[in-house]
Amino acid sequence: MVSTVQTVKIDVNAHDASTQSIVRPRELSGNKMNSVEMPSKIEPQVFQAASNAFMDGAPYGDWRDSFIERGYAILKGAIPKDRAQYYESQIHDWIRSFSYTKNLNLNDRSTWREKNLPAHLPINVYGLYCCSHEKFMWDIRQEAGIIDAFSKIWGTDELLVSFDGFSFILPERPDLPPPKSWAHVDQSPFKRGLQCVQGIANLGDASDPKDASLVVYSNSHKYFDEFFDTQTEKNGWTSVDYYSLTESERDWFLSKPDVEEIKLSVNPGDLLVWDSRTIHYGGGADPGSEHIRSAVYVSYSPAKFATTQFLELKKKVFESWSGTTHWAHDNIVLRGKDIPLLPNYEPDPENRSEPLEKPELSDKLLKLAGVRRYS
Ligand SMILES: [Fe+2]
Repeated sequence: MVSTVQTVKIDVNAHDASTQSIVRPRELSGNKMNSVEMPSKIEPQVFQAASNAFMDGAPYGDWRDSFIERGYAILKGAIPKDRAQYYESQIHDWIRSFSYTKNLNLNDRSTWREKNLPAHLPINVYGLYCCSHEKFMWDIRQEAGIIDAFSKIWGTDELLVSFDGFSFILPERPDLPPPKSWAHVDQSPFKRGLQCVQGIANLGDASDPKDASLVVYSNSHKYFDEFFDTQTEKNGWTSVDYYSLTESERDWFLSKPDVEEIKLSVNPGDLLVWDSRTIHYGGGADPGSEHIRSAVYVSYSPAKFATTQFLELKKKVFESWSGTTHWAHDNIVLRGKDIPLLPNYEPDPENRSEPLEKPELSDKLLKLAGVRRYS
């Protein structure tokens, strides 16, 4: 997720001129991220070796060359279109599975309001109510075309997957201000080189440049080290795998001759992958967009990147149907206390302790979840 970023700054004074109502994004109650201090015992050489093996194999003559060169890639049709559209319908059904969301009509923009939506992050990411473990989410995570992409990057079929959420964006909502940039990287300056690959399984039509979709700064991953070493104070660095860029910092990157800000146009079933050092953000819908965004965050890492201690905790997170950030092998967070809130900031009585439709706990799923070991 996005690092299910709780720190995103958005305009909390969003003003609805037509009704004079003010939408306050629902921050989560009780979400003092119960992060677990877990110093990695994985030696940096392990990450370096995996990264080197991938880089040394280039050129590949396919999307991997774009990933290495530009810091991101688009894999067309990683999920067959009919299945992608089915998954999209599953997201829509899930959104409408609450008593107060029955008034949401996806064909009637006047109903696209906060009161008709389940709790979500201000960045339009849904990760509560155990939705990360709905059957359709696990079906997507087990799509062969997605797993194959990450296997090709990491050089192994023995992968772990994140328990992340999904993005659902209604374009030009009448009760929200226009979207803003929240450009960031998802890797701490203490971590160098390729250590995390993020992905988005795109389900909706985002083929119009006005549609909501991922925005990347192409080639920016190449300047990650230079940026932190020359443009920031080392004593201000943290181990948090998230760094939000100021406008002047964004300009520093954009002053590089090969760095360009690009919103990626994609179709149902396309997979986006990017290096966590690549600057990115979820780009909102621009005026005139007619497409609802439905996109699931998927990220996989080699199982060998995770410590035994981490896997034990990940198992507990799985067994409680809780979510994680986009990191599959690090940054585990216990989120048992997350409480979804209604727009009036009262706890949502329709909170859930398990998915509406549980996934089949197959051997493949349990290994991806880190619950069962590969060997
Ligand atoms: Fe991110």
